Amino acid sequence: MTLSSALLAFLGVGAVGLVAPKGIARLRLSRAKHGSLTGHVRWGLRIARMIPFYEYDEARFFTADGAPPAVAAEREKGFRRLSALFHARFARTAALTAEAREGISDLQFTGTYRVPFQFSRIVRSALPAGNFLARSAGVTVTDLDGNDFYDLTGSYGVNLLGTDAYKALIAEGAATAADLGPLLGGLHPVVADNVRRLRAISGLDEVSFHMSGTEAVMQAVRLARYHTRRSHLVRFSGAYHGWWGDVQPGIGNPVPADRTYTLADMSERTLRVLATRRNIACVLVNPLQALHPNAGAPGDSSLVDSSRRAGVDRVAYAAWLRRLAETCRASGIVLIMDEVFTGFRLAPHGACEYFGVTPDLVTYGKTLGGGLPVGVLCGRHDLMKRYRDDRPVDICFARGTFNAHPYVMGAMDAFLRHMETAPARALYDGLDARWDGRAAALNARLEGEGLPVRVANLSTIWTVLYTVPSRYNWMLQYYLRAEGLLLSWVGSGRIIFSLNYTEADFAAVADRFVAAARAMHADGWWWAAGGTTNKALRRAVLRETFVARKRAA
Ligand SMILES: Cc1ncc(COP(=O)(O)O)c(C=O)c1O
Repeated sequence: MTLSSALLAFLGVGAVGLVAPKGIARLRLSRAKHGSLTGHVRWGLRIARMIPFYEYDEARFFTADGAPPAVAAEREKGFRRLSALFHARFARTAALTAEAREGISDLQFTGTYRVPFQFSRIVRSALPAGNFLARSAGVTVTDLDGNDFYDLTGSYGVNLLGTDAYKALIAEGAATAADLGPLLGGLHPVVADNVRRLRAISGLDEVSFHMSGTEAVMQAVRLARYHTRRSHLVRFSGAYHGWWGDVQPGIGNPVPADRTYTLADMSERTLRVLATRRNIACVLVNPLQALHPNAGAPGDSSLVDSSRRAGVDRVAYAAWLRRLAETCRASGIVLIMDEVFTGFRLAPHGACEYFGVTPDLVTYGKTLGGGLPVGVLCGRHDLMKRYRDDRPVDICFARGTFNAHPYVMGAMDAFLRHMETAPARALYDGLDARWDGRAAALNARLEGEGLPVRVANLSTIWTVLYTVPSRYNWMLQYYLRAEGLLLSWVGSGRIIFSLNYTEADFAAVADRFVAAARAMHADGWWWAAGGTTNKALRRAVLRETFVARKRAA
């Protein structure tokens, strides 16, 4: 029970009548928040600010869960073996990373937050994985030491077709743009073709070009506010829409996002708020949340136990989106589908087609740039308009130096034309069945070997789940790397496959995945005392935090 629902229960139905209408609206809003900290973003930020830094020394590193000496010794032996392998195998890549890290803030951040902070320093020095890569081909990438890895990063979702395809699309796009060159302001004729295709794909009237998904979302929200003359946007708990402050309230953003409501996904109470509040301009939906409604992006740095959950109920999520769309329509709220991640990945016309929903505005990005950076907004004519005929000075300003850059437009044109070809269309035939089948086969193998690891997926977007309570699940990313499987810095929470993975490629990945889990299991990381629960593990971390706070005071 959340704080707000407890309060309502305490007041009782009769007493609610005594509360002023404004108070009722506020309570209703509060009840529409998800009970977790992803729903209570202010509390999340407050609590985050109270958590002091502390870390484990070498001994505690292996016994954070109270493991007995024999288990700790197994873990330590495995860790030293892995460390020797990393130092030998990734020497050049790690050396350049260490040198560059000092001057690249992003590397400092991602390097620190690959694993829970209590373990981070020791892991960084013992398992220097490195961030530099020399080449990509097929479904693999090669580091500076000449090691090949199967690419499970998916380039943050950009890589839908395989890196070779994007190299060709970029070259084709550059050839298209070559005569005009990098001229800005005037449009290359290929822009007109892109607009025509994007209108057909989105089913919407107009298009604007931006440089990133974040910017496309900014523009969508700005237009919704302009046309509705309302102030607030609604996003769902845990959903990522880029790093602009208004769509990222709470942890990660130092400024309060005062005109953002973070509400529970797939919730009747949310629909009631949308139906009754008059200050909501728009609702943002990231359809990727279908895989884990109300949970944030599953990064390994927050893996303090094994409570990560995921799994898609396509019918239920589609029904929810339909009701959401109806409610928005009835309340004059702009529905924005943020397809920056899911666009072209789930179906030719993206998640809108996959889940059967028609939004007012839709954002695209990532793969649509054909390998180059892009953000795109498509929308209804009345919402995309940036000025008022009857109030000529009341405009909605949006520009960007590099918008509709000829080389990006050329690569986008190559991508969109490619997506109309028969081979590209064929990629979607049986797509879900293929990837669901691969996930099920891998899960059957993991279960058959008694390994406490499973995968859950939304088509080619996967996440790794853990079935026994453990403080050490994040170690799997290092065992996977030792087996030649490359993950992004968020670790096992997000695996993204490109569509060019053949059965043989996937079989190789599955073999290595099982081998990695087997090795980690043998090294004792998944030992658990009888009766250990995830709750008990979280409580233990909480106790450590209190002790560290006391010590710091
Ligand atoms: C759904 C969604 N929206 C917006 C963005 C932001 O896009 P960009 O990183 O290009 O700014 C992302 C990026 O991951 C995303 O997944």
